[in-house]
Order: sequence, then C-alpha cells, then structure tokens
Amino acid sequence: MKRIPIIAGNWKMYKTKDDALSFIYAVNVAVPEKELVESVICAPAIFLRDLVKREGEDLRIGAQTMHELDEGAYTGEISAPMLKAYGVDYVVLGHSERRAYYNETDESVNKKLIQAVKNELTPIVCVGESLEIREAGTTDQVVKDQVVKAYLNVSSDQALKTVVAYEPIWAIGTGKTATPDQANDTIKAIRNVLKGLYGAMVSDSIRILYGGSVKPNNVDELLAKSDIDGALVGGASLDPESFLTLVKAAVKK
Ligand code: PGA
Repeated sequence: MKRIPIIAGNWKMYKTKDDALSFIYAVNVAVPEKELVESVICAPAIFLRDLVKREGEDLRIGAQTMHELDEGAYTGEISAPMLKAYGVDYVVLGHSERRAYYNETDESVNKKLIQAVKNELTPIVCVGESLEIREAGTTDQVVKDQVVKAYLNVSSDQALKTVVAYEPIWAIGTGKTATPDQANDTIKAIRNVLKGLYGAMVSDSIRILYGGSVKPNNVDELLAKSDIDGALVGGASLDPESFLTLVKAAVKK
C-alpha cells in the first residue's frame, strides 16, 4: 500500500512576518507536486491568513493547535471552523510542548481530533514518550495508551482522515534523534494499535510521521524505513533550503 509521504514543518513561535512571507515565496515555487509529497507548514496563528493566500498548488498550511469547540467564551482560542474558513488544511494536535505547558490531555486531543475531522482539517496527532519512559522500557505501552485514548469513539472513516506523528520527547529540539530502527519499531507498534482498532486496510493507509531533530543529514536514513511516512520538523523547517531538502528527500520514498 503506497502512502504519500508528508513533510510538515512546525515553526513553533518563531519567525517575523517578513521572514514568514519570504520563506513562503521561496518555497512555494520549489516544492514538488503534492501527489509525490505533501509539503505542509504549520505556522503561528497570526501568519496563517497571509500564508494561505500565497500557498500555491503544492504547499499546504496548518495550525499548531485549535480549540475543541465551535465557539464560546474562551479568550485567546481559535476554533476549527475559523481555521477552515481561512483555508487552513492541517492542524497539529497534542504536541508534547502543548501537553507540557498548556495542559493538553489525551482527552482533549481526542475531542480536537474529532472536531478537526468534522471541519475537514487533517489532524496531525502527536504522541511520544519521555526519556524516563524510554529508559524504563515501557515506550510501546505508553504510546499505545496515547493512541487508544486519542482515537476513542473515532470511526474508521474518521481515522482515515488523520495523520499520526511519533515524537519522542527526548529527541525534540535536543539534537538527539531516535535511531531509524527505534523510530520504525515504535511506529510499527502504533500501526499495530491502529490495526487492532480498525483493521489492516485502515492501519495500512494512515500516515505515521517521525519527529524529533529531523535534519537534512539524517532524513534519508529515517525515511528509508518501512513504516516512517514522513516527518514533523521543528528547527530544520525554519530555513527554506533545509525544508526543501527534506521535502525532496521524501519524494524518493
Ligand atoms: P525539532 O522539533 O525538529 O526541532 O526537534 C520537532 C517538533 O517539535 O515537532
């Protein structure tokens, strides 16, 4: 089963407006066709409108979080219908930084996943273990639990519209990448959980990305692995050349 790879940049809280615009002009004309690789930039909310206007045919724009409800008295929040109305196509959910600093829980990730799909946004659902868990040898159990909770009451049709990102917390922004085998083994374990929930047809179709210090110099060996369908990239997505190198590496997958 051929899964189109995805390279999703996560800019976090970086870039000025001018930087964001010049990035998009440089990258937009150079990304490969979306039939070969889905190239996505998940930007700070305030840039989304400007970026969507300039995204072109083969680049897509995502948000880094959203609220689980359509509307309400939630100062500072942005809803899925608001993102959709501006032409945003993806949203990162449950990133470990949001879990750690903004109380995002498995339960809220589950609600947001359902809300994103309902509003035709593709959720990139992040899961991953801390260093203590990796060292205790319980990674698969912990990640499995996160996946099961994220997909609670999610139908197979809905699940097919989602993307998972496996991001070991100890590898994010640290320069420590999981080895390709470590990443592939955990991603296989995730696929196995999805298989248990939805059957092989669905689990073989869902893209599962790796994230955590993915760089131009390690992307090839990660993407060479059977079950790694692309990458969620922080630091190395900020520079246009570096992002394009990652995207082009994914075309070879
Ligand atoms: P990094 O971030 O590539 O800078 O490690 C990854 C992420 O947080 O998604």
